[in-house]
Amino acid sequence: MDDRRLLAIAEDMKKNSYSPYSNFRVGAAVLTKSGKTFGGVNVENASFGATICAERTAVFKAVSAGEREIVAVAISSDSDEYTFPCGICRQVLREFGDDDTRVICGNKNGEFTVFTLGQLLPNAFSKF
Ligand code: THU
Repeated sequence: MDDRRLLAIAEDMKKNSYSPYSNFRVGAAVLTKSGKTFGGVNVENASFGATICAERTAVFKAVSAGEREIVAVAISSDSDEYTFPCGICRQVLREFGDDDTRVICGNKNGEFTVFTLGQLLPNAFSKF
């Protein structure tokens, strides 16, 4: 699974985004060590704090399926800018990833930039 293919899954997920409040659609896809992929979308709520980001939806789907190790995550929105995971999502990704986990940040044109999780969340608080 290369970066472009994982990002394509994230891009495709956007059609399922539930984002009537922000109108900001986000799709994400995680790749686990066993080679499985899990897609996720942002799911908003009238009580805004109950909203969940696309990245965490994808991570929680993977964990719910018995996966524990995330090697890459791709993120896509409708923005011209690359979409980076928010701080909470970086921490959640770190729980099931490590400093080498690839974070593939896409824009609406399918272009992307790649960082490691260690770059995006240095000196992370982690039990492992
Ligand atoms: N959002 C994500 O799904 N992922 C991010 O990395 C940033 C923000 C969502 C949350 C909310 O539904 C909308 O984007 C606007 O913040």
